[in-house]
Amino acid sequence: MTRTDRDNPAGTLSKMDMTTTKPPCVALLSSVLDMQYLVPAFRAAAPGLDLRVGPDLGALDDIDAAVCWAPPPGLLAAMPKLRLVQSLGAGIDHLRSDPDLPPGPTVCRIVDTAMAGTMTAYVTWAVIQHQRSMGAYLASAAAGQWQEQPIVAPSRHRVGIAGLGTLGIASARALQAVGYAVRGWSRSPKADLPEGVQAFHGQDGLDAFLAGCDALVCLLPLTAQTQGFLCADLFARLPRGAHLINVGRGSHLVEADLLRALDDGTLGAATLDAFQHEPLPSGHPFWRHPRINVTPHVAARTDPATIARQTLDNLAQLRRGQRPAVAVDPAQGY
Ligand code: NAP
Ligand code: GLV
Repeated sequence: MTRTDRDNPAGTLSKMDMTTTKPPCVALLSSVLDMQYLVPAFRAAAPGLDLRVGPDLGALDDIDAAVCWAPPPGLLAAMPKLRLVQSLGAGIDHLRSDPDLPPGPTVCRIVDTAMAGTMTAYVTWAVIQHQRSMGAYLASAAAGQWQEQPIVAPSRHRVGIAGLGTLGIASARALQAVGYAVRGWSRSPKADLPEGVQAFHGQDGLDAFLAGCDALVCLLPLTAQTQGFLCADLFARLPRGAHLINVGRGSHLVEADLLRALDDGTLGAATLDAFQHEPLPSGHPFWRHPRINVTPHVAARTDPATIARQTLDNLAQLRRGQRPAVAVDPAQGY
């Protein structure tokens, strides 16, 4: 099943929950972001909420839910009544910043159709930008030159999406609508893909998938299995000169392997939105490489109102003894 935010109908559950019991206590935590930007959305979603943010969180044994991006080490383990660890985004790998993450609370991620729209726009732009030689047009326009580039029909350009979840399937639909020949790869077989999308799964399906990717889009979660997925061995299994688009996580990519593959022609170009170290350091070779496009982790963002609504809905479900549909499977790590 594709999980969307239709599974979490707006605010009603959280409001009911707050009128019948003590208002929930929600803490906003990050070791790298200023979480104040979320306060208005939480206040609007639930005016009576006991909301904690900033260095002084008050009594930690009040806290029912923690909304996190890279939480400070050890803090969640000091909250004895914590039921929900809510990721600020679709990925949950940033929770690894806390080596003492307590095993009890349910971890939920954001599943958001609006975010899927933003991601599909980015992925579609990245594919078209390279496939229609837009970089060359920008350069010739800057030089005042009328210079045509070869035109290849989208149906002759094969785009592979590694990761057929909420964002991968939405991107597959958008690319198919433009006319690209779309294929996808996932861990388990998929029965509900858009018609015409060629499906591959598991390690057994990986070679055949990669052999037909003129562009490869990484939309995998970062787990122990997918760390370093984008490496020299994988690049060698793509058609020569393929375009790599990484909108997953920086640690999916072995950076030195990418530079070698671009320099020896194994890959033709790369569009990168996520990096091992963010912000990408100013001296990093990716910035100056003529065939790498860098964007600063902006492919998709979750709207604060969605974060507030999904957090309150997830917490209300947990308080009723239900497991939210967007809960992460601890065994799979995503
Ligand atoms: P999702 O719904 O959980 O989907 C993940 C997909 O990856 C599923 O199809 C899953 O296969 C597949 N997968 C997981 N492990 C695999 C493995 N070992 N081998 C093959 N396939 C595997 O995730 P999502 O919401 O689409 O988000 C995907 C990722 O995008 C996030 O985790 C995050 O890293 C990234 N992201 C980036 C940005 C940005 O701005 N750059 C924004 C949002 C998200 P099954 O279907 O078989 O389970
Ligand atoms: C952003 O990268 C997210 O995981 O939502």
